[in-house]
Amino acid sequence: MIEIILLVSSVLFIFALKLFGRPSTAHRANTFAMLAMALAVFSAFNFDFSKYDSAFYITIVVSGLLGVLISKRVQMTQMPELVGLFNGFGGGASGAIAYVELSGSSLPISDVFVAIFSMGIGMFTFSGSLVAVMKLRGKLNNFNKKLADIFSVFFPTILVIPAVLEMDDLLMEFIILVAIISGVIRVAVIGGADMPVVIAFLNSLSGIAAMSAGFIVNSIILIVAGALVGASGIILTLLMCAAMNRTLRDVLKGGFGTTTINNEYEKDPISTSPEDVAIQLSYAESVVIVPGYGMAVAQAQAAVKELTNTLKDKNIEVKFAIHPVAGRMPGHMNVLLAEVDIDYEDMYTLEDINSEFSSTDVVIVVGANDVVNPLARTDEDSPIYGMPILDVDLAKQVIVLKRSMSPGYAGIANPLFVNDNAKMLFADAKEGLENIIKSFELV
Ligand code: TAP
Repeated sequence: MIEIILLVSSVLFIFALKLFGRPSTAHRANTFAMLAMALAVFSAFNFDFSKYDSAFYITIVVSGLLGVLISKRVQMTQMPELVGLFNGFGGGASGAIAYVELSGSSLPISDVFVAIFSMGIGMFTFSGSLVAVMKLRGKLNNFNKKLADIFSVFFPTILVIPAVLEMDDLLMEFIILVAIISGVIRVAVIGGADMPVVIAFLNSLSGIAAMSAGFIVNSIILIVAGALVGASGIILTLLMCAAMNRTLRDVLKGGFGTTTINNEYEKDPISTSPEDVAIQLSYAESVVIVPGYGMAVAQAQAAVKELTNTLKDKNIEVKFAIHPVAGRMPGHMNVLLAEVDIDYEDMYTLEDINSEFSSTDVVIVVGANDVVNPLARTDEDSPIYGMPILDVDLAKQVIVLKRSMSPGYAGIANPLFVNDNAKMLFADAKEGLENIIKSFELV
């Protein structure tokens, strides 16, 4: 019976991953994943609920309630932090299982290797994830890079030694300490803006730690779920890196966005007003909206929806161009737009929309910057050279809604802002959009 439950749970996990591939089925995917996890936890009891004492059940109920409470309260923009926290606890739990197994019984030598691996990776993920969470909250500055490099070499070496020597508690505690310190230092040198990639990477590590813990305690579901997390985490990490045209090694080296780049513009931008934008839009037949990180910061998605309705009421065609790394987490823009019921059919990927910009009357860039920077196509010295971008500079007219000429994540100037076909509407995204909508009443 337990084996059937485990099989169902594994299949549900796999189906859930498949369904996460489309925004329209992602909700169902969550339900499947929750069910799969509930079955996995249930199977651990093996139909014998008396084998644990009341302290165990109190811990489960309290931590379960805490999970619900935290998840309910978290803002959409804080989602990477929450995922980071979950990864950290997952890694820590796997590390703890391995520790208990290593200290409790005499494992065969092959299992000792796996257990040390699981303990090291798990504890590394635990401390690294906590640092990543603090970085996302802007609570930590960069550490000394050299120190991190020394530790990255030191850490794998330390994992192998104890297996060869005789294992004792003191040695295990030493490995745990080194793993924790390595996690802290390794992540601390990476810039806060790269944290979403780091979190996806740590997510993968937490899966690998769980999978190896599964081998030691002979748990099929831990092996299956751990392998799924490990594999999907690394795929996501690599996809994010590819969409930024950077290698994982580059990201983990740290220091991105810290070099000083000449951000001067050759000429002044043309600024516009909400009234002028409303007039401009009312003459358009096709409009493409490009959301970016600024839309998330301003929580302007509801205003975007309202503007979309206003334009559609005037029979103006509205499409959304979604860059794969717009914002700060995978699917960031899709999630925010879905929150306000923007039709999935109106959202276009970079590959699907790029050929349409040249025939688009007006593009409105809402708080996006790097993902529409034409330097990625033209300037070989630019840090974003080669990154696929949305070619909005090819549209007939472009309106860029942001607060200032400040750069985005990559820290570089964007010549789009001073293009002849572009006008800047300097405002907070939400306020700016609301003012455009109000101005429509006067047009
Ligand atoms: P960015 O290039 O980061 O630019 C965002 C712009 O939003 C800023 O220039 C800022 O200009 C503006 N902004 C901030 N607050 C605003 C507000 N309240 N109202 C209006 N505008 C506001 O964003 P993007 O174009 O979305 O590109 C994302 C970047 O993040 C890429 O470089 C990508 O590689 C990187 N990244 C993404 C991910 C994922 S998975 N999405 C992960 C790691 C890194 P002002 O200050 O002038 O307003």
